[in-house]
Amino acid sequence: VLENAVTSDPGFEAARVFQGDRIRLRAVEPSDLDEVMRWINNPEVTQFLAVGRMPVSRAEEERWLAERPANERRLTIETLDGAYVGAAGLHEIDLVDRSAEVGIVIANERNWGKGYGRESLALLADLAFQTLNLHRLYLRVYAYNERAIRVYEKAGFVREGVDRQAHFHGGTWHDVIRMGLLASEWRGANLP
Ligand SMILES: CC(C)(COP(=O)(O)OP(=O)(O)OC[C@H]1O[C@@H](n2cnc3c(N)ncnc32)[C@H](O)[C@@H]1OP(=O)(O)O)[C@@H](O)C(=O)NCCC(=O)NCCS
Repeated sequence: VLENAVTSDPGFEAARVFQGDRIRLRAVEPSDLDEVMRWINNPEVTQFLAVGRMPVSRAEEERWLAERPANERRLTIETLDGAYVGAAGLHEIDLVDRSAEVGIVIANERNWGKGYGRESLALLADLAFQTLNLHRLYLRVYAYNERAIRVYEKAGFVREGVDRQAHFHGGTWHDVIRMGLLASEWRGANLP
């Protein structure tokens, strides 16, 4: 059930928890593997990610899929008619600090800049704050990933710091920007 959650409070925007206007977040299925193998070995995509710096085998990816770490929520982004769009996840979920690290990938470069990232991030933040009751989301983004930074800033993420020359790519060093979003800052909602 994708559009579950609490419907008694209209301010809760329950219908948006897992499904938006054009996409939904759902569990990762073994049938996603072919799609994942394509982006995880595509340097155009992985230049922006911490994964996929070395070629990733199908067997490695199958093992990754089979894992279900308690401190991670891995999801597939798909269109409302079921076409694979990408991956989203909450990592390092900490139940004391109630925080998690955000990850998002729109798998096909041709789908970048169409608003899927913005919508995925909104659904992920709803899920994190309204369903999992987290307090803070954070991420690290490479300074040259201007598209991603734009999406995060538009969602309300604040630049919290810079790890100088923390990332080596393309034969040179790049800064890594740290960003964070508090539940109280998300959609101005009445959250804990
Ligand atoms: C980053 C990513 C998730 C964003 O998703 P997306 O669907 O492409 O982004 P959206 O279409 O929702 O929004 C893109 C925004 O960036 C802007 N943008 C596009 N290209 C840009 C560029 N080169 N520089 C700055 N801004 C740019 C767009 O105008 C848009 O802003 P707007 O809504 O104000 O017009 C996606 O591009 C992606 O998967 N990239 C590769 C993996 C990655 O970088 N993941 C994040 C790692 S931290």
